[in-house]
This record gives sequence, structure tokens and C-alpha cells, in this order.
Amino acid sequence: MMTAVEQRTSNWIPGPILGIETSCDETAAAALAADGTVLANIIASQHAVHRRFGGVVPELASRAHIESIEVVSAEALQQAGLAWADLTGIAVTQGPGLAGALLVGVNYAKALAYVLNIPVVGVSHLEGHIASAWLQDPAFPLPCVVLVVSGGHTQLYYKEPNGHCRLLGTTRDDAAGEAFDKGAQLLGLEYPGGPAIDRLALKGNPEAIAFPRSYLKKGSLEFSFSGLKTALLYRLQAMPEQSRAAHAADLAASYQEAIVAVLVEKSFAAVRSSGARALAVVGGVSANSRLRALLQQRASSESLQLSLPPRAYCTDNAAMIAAAGRQALRAGLRAPLDIDAQASLPSSFAQVI
Ligand code: KG4
Ligand code: ZN
Repeated sequence: MMTAVEQRTSNWIPGPILGIETSCDETAAAALAADGTVLANIIASQHAVHRRFGGVVPELASRAHIESIEVVSAEALQQAGLAWADLTGIAVTQGPGLAGALLVGVNYAKALAYVLNIPVVGVSHLEGHIASAWLQDPAFPLPCVVLVVSGGHTQLYYKEPNGHCRLLGTTRDDAAGEAFDKGAQLLGLEYPGGPAIDRLALKGNPEAIAFPRSYLKKGSLEFSFSGLKTALLYRLQAMPEQSRAAHAADLAASYQEAIVAVLVEKSFAAVRSSGARALAVVGGVSANSRLRALLQQRASSESLQLSLPPRAYCTDNAAMIAAAGRQALRAGLRAPLDIDAQASLPSSFAQVI
């Protein structure tokens, strides 16, 4: 996780650390104990701010982060029973994400590090999601396959015994979370779309409508979700207005099934082809109840070890950023105080954890 601007030192004595996450529409701060236990995981969601626009408005996100960052950080410390002076390091999301939103967290983290005279490390958001799989079970085995499914990513990695991640497959177009959000918009559901489809789908039949499941060519570990979204659009256009409402739950359940069936199938195909005996599934979409149920069933029938973090660690949070940052601090990394937010930090960043 070392960037060109990071430096290596060897004098970090493990102690409590604060994680900060502001890459999109959650202002989050978390405190970890010296042994990596999560002491507090505070999230101020901006969903109410963005809901009437149907998606995240970057400028409003930055402003909301500025308003909340200090309150959320102080609350994390208070809940953890820590004083500012107890902190021995800060981990902050450096990218990828919305530039203005990231800047709030990065600048706040740098200011804290300067005032407290402790090290700060910049963490890739993706690397944070991956680290969430080990938050509850630090002994979860390696090597394993990791599926990262969020609003911005749908990627399969092979995480080697030394912790390095090798990319096995990614999406050619939309991320799975994007497919949920765009589908929800077409169905007239509120933002954020993933949880809305999840809730509505509970009342519907997942086999009611045969939406296309894009497996691509045989053995492919790549994903594609844009055709599915178009199929939903055409299906809705062909329906009279009143029948859309009557079939909303079936549409949601069938659309959701087409996404999660492919995610499950490809994750297990990756496990088979890589020879790993463990699978971790992380990121916002891993909060989906149907995906969780299918993964659990399949893992138990194939006697595969599965790490499916609790929902609070699936969607954006700072505990995962603190966990990834803790690894970096333990490895002796620290960033200089002129590190900057990197809105398009490449996902390959996660390959050098
Ligand atoms: O990881 P995350 O919070 O932020 C990103 O890094 O993108 O993921 C957000 C994505 C959104 O697309 C949201 O709709 C989706 O995760 N999501 C869900 C659920 N909860 C969040 N998708 C399906 N079912 C859910 N329960
Ligand atoms: Zn995320």
C-alpha cells in the first residue's frame, strides 16, 4: 500500500488508532484498540441530503462531511473511552472517491496527525473493503478469493498467503451496486437503490421474470451488468402503468436474482479455479439479504470457509479503513504531511497491501 510519497520508518509502537472515511456519502470515524479490536464505529449517513436528487451530489457531500467530521471523530473516541492523546496513528481514505469529499477527510487527518504528532497513512478505499473481511475474524485463512461488490467496484481477487492481492476478474461496464441503484431508479424506488430493492424483493418471486444473466464466455471471471439494466427498462416500457405497480415486487426480486446469481456463481468458480478453500465477500452489495443467503447455503454445501462481515462493515465505514491502516502502520509506513486525496487512485493499489 505504499505510494511514491510514503515513507518507511520502524519506530511505531502499536496503540489505539483512528480511522477516517469520507470518500462518498458517509462521514465515518472508527477507533481500534492496539490489538485491532473495533472499539467504536460511527457513521453519519448523508442519505437524507441526497435522496431528493436521486443520487449523490458531490458538492453537498463535501459540505456535509465538513459539518460532521469533527463530531463523528469525537464521538468515536468517546465511545471507545479514549482521549485524543491516547491515539498513536491515523488512517484515512486517500481514494478512490469524490475529490471534494476525500479532501475533507485527508485534510482533517493530516491536521490531527500534526497536532498530536502521530503518524498518518493514506489507505485505498478498496483495500479498506478487503480488510473488513478480517475485522471479526483476524484468523480467517489465506489464500482466499475476495469478491469486492460495491457502488464503484465488482472485482474478484486472489489474496495470497503473503497478503498480496491478484486481480482475477472485474466488471466490463457497471458495478453490481450501480446495477442495483439504476434498476431501483427505473422502478421508481428511493435512493439508495440497493437496500430499497432488497426490501421490496422480499415480497416478490425471484423466478417471476427471466432477466438475462450475463456469464460471458465459459470460465470467464469478468462481469457485465449493463444489459440487465436495459432489459429491465424494456420490460417496464412494455408494461401498462398500473401493471408496473402490481408487479413491482416480482420485478425487484427477479432483477436482484439476476445480479446475485452471477455474483455467487463467479465467486465459486474463482474459488474452484484458484484452488483456494476460503471466500470473502465485501462491499456495500454484500449487505444484500438474498446474496448473503445464497452465499451461506452454497458455502455450507461445499464446506467452504466464508467471511461475510456484519452489515455495518459491508457498506462504507471507517473500521475497515482503520484496519487496513493498522497493517500499514505495523509495516512501518507513514505518509508525509503533504499527502493529497487521489480521486482516481487505481484499484491496482490494492495489489500491494
Ligand atoms: O461500499 P459502499 O457503501 O460504497 C461504495 O464503495 O460504493 O456500496 C454502496 C453500494 C450502493 O450501490 C448500494 O445501493 C449498495 O452498495 N447496497 C446494496 C445494499 N446495501 C447497499 N445493494 C443491494 N442490497 C443491499 N442491501
Ligand atoms: Zn465503499
